[in-house]
Amino acid sequence: MSTNSPSGSTGSSTAADRARALTVEAHERFKSVSDGKVADYIPALAATPAELFGVCMIGTSGDTYAAGDSDYEFSIQSVSKPFVFALVCQAVGEDEAREKLGVNSTGLPFNSVIAIERTKDGTTNPMVNAGAIAAASLAPGATAEAKWRFIHEGLSRFAGRRLTLNHAVYQSETATNQRNQGAAKLLQGYDRIYFDPIQATDVYTRQCALNVTAKDLAAMAATLANGGVNPLTGESVIDAVHCQHVLAVMVTAGLYEQSGDWLYETGLPGKSGVSGGMVAVAPMKGGLGTFAPLLDDSGNSVKGRLAARFLSEQLGLNLFASNPAG
Ligand code: DON
Repeated sequence: MSTNSPSGSTGSSTAADRARALTVEAHERFKSVSDGKVADYIPALAATPAELFGVCMIGTSGDTYAAGDSDYEFSIQSVSKPFVFALVCQAVGEDEAREKLGVNSTGLPFNSVIAIERTKDGTTNPMVNAGAIAAASLAPGATAEAKWRFIHEGLSRFAGRRLTLNHAVYQSETATNQRNQGAAKLLQGYDRIYFDPIQATDVYTRQCALNVTAKDLAAMAATLANGGVNPLTGESVIDAVHCQHVLAVMVTAGLYEQSGDWLYETGLPGKSGVSGGMVAVAPMKGGLGTFAPLLDDSGNSVKGRLAARFLSEQLGLNLFASNPAG
């Protein structure tokens, strides 16, 4: 991972040693933090061992640094949202995607229905549930299966391997996702969903139930940092121009009503999920993927936030950092 370290070295063994040591240190520092709560509104998530903690950084050249439970598989949940938005931007263009989904922060929790009512036209943004279900409905394909194939294949290309469905989580959320179905129906009332609302919610629920590891999340984040090219496979997943739009929406809404606090801490676009996954993207440098299921009140991983802040500070990744000229 190239950094703004004082030596200015890029890809040298010194920079690599430092990135490796800092990844291990981030894990060591925060592994004993026990604040937060494992999500249980999706019953299958409640059984996740609370102490799990994985950290992985992947640079735009593919250099990979990992510590802790970075190979443990968990359902991706909301961390899928920016990547599906990216695939939809690629498919329909960034202007149509913005017009149909909205890109402004709601300032409200991820599952808010009021958020739909508060805008004139019923748009939210693709990082919250309503906008993400609308994004899934915009996936190319005339049937739910075709839309699912598009999303499954696209997310797998971001990760650089074929992702598998966590059937227990999918079934558990399907049995309990009436609130998301309600949001999708409300979107239909505003003409802001672009397929059958119940089927679109099902495609979205499957998307959220795909298994990933912290390493997969780091690869996905690194792809957004690298102009849409997966640094591990060399495959171009989306055009470079779409990365900046996706990152913009992650900055304003990636951690929901806590997005301002997150940006203040890290200076990076990020996205969280209720199973405990989190990504942070350092454009042209690399991606961070973390997994730790203890969540704060807004549904963001407590240890993930701490690790991202630590690594951003140590590696000089904050996008807003500057030094006096001369
Ligand atoms: O729709 C839901 O509620 C879940 N499938 C995803 C929510 C989520 O991950 C929110 N993130 N922090």
